[in-house]
Amino acid sequence: MMKTNETTILITGGSGFIGSNFIPHFMNKHPNYKIINLDNLTYAGNPLHLTEVSNLSNYHFIHGDIADEQLVTDIFERYDIHGVIHFAAESHVDRSINDAKQFIHTNVKGTMVLLQIAKNNWEQKHELHNRRFHHISTDEVYGSLGKTGKFTEATPYNPRNPYSASKAGSNMLAKSFGYTYGMNVIVTSSSNNYGPKQHQEKLIPTIIRKALNGEAIPIYGDGSNIRDWIYVLDHCKALDLVYHHGQSLEKYNIGGSNEQSNIAIAQQICSILDELVPELKTEHGISRYEELITFTKDRLGHDQRYAVDDQKLRTELGWQPVEEFHTGLQKTVEWYVNQWSRTKTH
Ligand SMILES: NC(=O)c1ccc[n+]([C@@H]2O[C@H](COP(=O)([O-])OP(=O)(O)OC[C@H]3O[C@@H](n4cnc5c(N)ncnc54)[C@H](O)[C@@H]3O)[C@@H](O)[C@H]2O)c1
Repeated sequence: MMKTNETTILITGGSGFIGSNFIPHFMNKHPNYKIINLDNLTYAGNPLHLTEVSNLSNYHFIHGDIADEQLVTDIFERYDIHGVIHFAAESHVDRSINDAKQFIHTNVKGTMVLLQIAKNNWEQKHELHNRRFHHISTDEVYGSLGKTGKFTEATPYNPRNPYSASKAGSNMLAKSFGYTYGMNVIVTSSSNNYGPKQHQEKLIPTIIRKALNGEAIPIYGDGSNIRDWIYVLDHCKALDLVYHHGQSLEKYNIGGSNEQSNIAIAQQICSILDELVPELKTEHGISRYEELITFTKDRLGHDQRYAVDDQKLRTELGWQPVEEFHTGLQKTVEWYVNQWSRTKTH
């Protein structure tokens, strides 16, 4: 039987990298919430990453597209959705450079469909101002930095690839629903996440996989591009805080205060692997994994540097990241090595 006064939250894209780290953390912190995970399981979604919650009676998975108006309407009619935490996106810059179509479908149209249907449903219930729509976004919307400076929430959007353009578009759509209809919208823009459960095509899993296979580790250009890296669980904790305590219509940046060049990341991973899996080096005919690093043709329009000023989140909501990069990276590498060993033995 449906319990009354139950808080039901619609999470989109919960089977992806950040979502599948967020859901177990969030459900553990708020065991009274009912979670609906709407995900269409693209190549980036992996239901196995949610096995720790999939049997819980307050977790429900719905396989479907966020841009499917009928499906999203049915979900809002069937469940009394108190809030939306919207992760679902096409998220890989390189794929957007090859073909932007799906990025516009999911990131722009999908976000619009969710906003529109949430608005209509909450308006009918006279709950438009109370129920929250939390849109998850990226620091990439701000463009690229030179050697100095950081993105603040006041930095104008200046996206420079189709992925970041689609995310900037969706951020603006979300904010517009707040200004136009008085919807309780909040947007967070986080820096690059690292940690377990990320799809193998992304930088850190690629470096680890290639090294373990004894293949060339591809690094774009001269490896000098800098990103501000945050451990995924620190991001999840920030999202929980902002979802519950952030100010409606505000933007919050979430960063790791941890700038690393791509080449520095590759070198640190290789050193960890040197200690963790020394036996494979002989098999691959190398004395250090670093010997596998290879510089490749640069990504088109490759943004040089991102750095995030997250003072607003720290000052207003008392958040700060707790994971040190060297411990977070060690845990991350260990997780991927375990996954890799499992696939080798099966
Ligand atoms: N990974 C990062 O470093 C990072 C940094 C900042 C912001 N973000 C943002 O965080 C969010 C989550 O990122 P991620 O790294 O977990 O992405 P991801 O690519 O790992 O996962 C995306 C998830 O969305 C699902 N999805 C895609 N299209 C869908 C659709 N049309 N309908 C329903 N589900 C769909 C996929 O199946 C997948 O489970 C994204 O909005 C991304 O822009 C990511």
